[in-house]
Amino acid sequence: MLLTLALLSLVLLLAYRFYYNTYTYWARMGVPHERPLPVIGNTKGIGSKYHLRDISQWIYDKFKGQAPIAGMFLFFKRTAVVTDLDLIKLKTLRKHPIISQLLRETNESYKVPNTEIIIEKGTSLLIPVHSIHYDPDLYPQPELFDPSRFEADKSNSRHPFAYLPFGDGPRNCIGLRFGKMQAKISIVSLLQRFKFGASDPTEIPLVLDTRSPTLAVKHGIHLKVERIDLEFY
Ligand code: HEM
Repeated sequence: MLLTLALLSLVLLLAYRFYYNTYTYWARMGVPHERPLPVIGNTKGIGSKYHLRDISQWIYDKFKGQAPIAGMFLFFKRTAVVTDLDLIKLKTLRKHPIISQLLRETNESYKVPNTEIIIEKGTSLLIPVHSIHYDPDLYPQPELFDPSRFEADKSNSRHPFAYLPFGDGPRNCIGLRFGKMQAKISIVSLLQRFKFGASDPTEIPLVLDTRSPTLAVKHGIHLKVERIDLEFY
């Protein structure tokens, strides 16, 4: 009897620890979030045709402008709703810089600080953007898609050249703002009309074409695209 009670208490204690650790995650991270119900998490919108979209739409409307990310829980799964699309773009271009190396030529000789190395005038320089973007000292767990890395305080704490999808200096991309705006409009208009997912021929991870001078995949990107019913939105 005593043993049963002890076991029961242990199970209850472990369950409590689990729920506590799970459902206080966003509060501990200081991220504004929708308060979850025990065990089932956030339920608003469940039951309607596109409930996941309903829930994320509702969270988005509620927290937009307050923080770049808002939190919610789908059952036990902590889920971030990105309320600032710029974070997604910034992050995507870190993982997939279209031009993965920049070229420069020195117009005067340059001594590399704290070394005896001199780069002579007229030397070609290759700046490995892709490798910089995957440097774990700059971006811990570089394979992880974590838009919060680009929140203002974290971005400002990194070296300005730690992020170079548009290059930098006097010859950087002149279409930077236009390119970002185009991408934002395309993402929004596509996601309003279509749902994207993996299909049988989708390669995960994608195989890159190593012969292409810009970022390109070898066998194409095959996605399943479904039109979604707009009448709910
Ligand atoms: C997401 C979209 C884009 C990306 C990722 C991108 C990226 C880049 C990069 C990495 C460079 C080289 C910068 C350097 O060497 O420091 C560059 C240069 C350039 N980009 Fe873009 N670009 C984008 C969109 C555009 C658009 C929309 C335009 C024009 C409307 C444009 C026009 C240019 C031009 C003219 C240069 C050469 C600048 C120079 O050499 O002075 N780009 N871009």
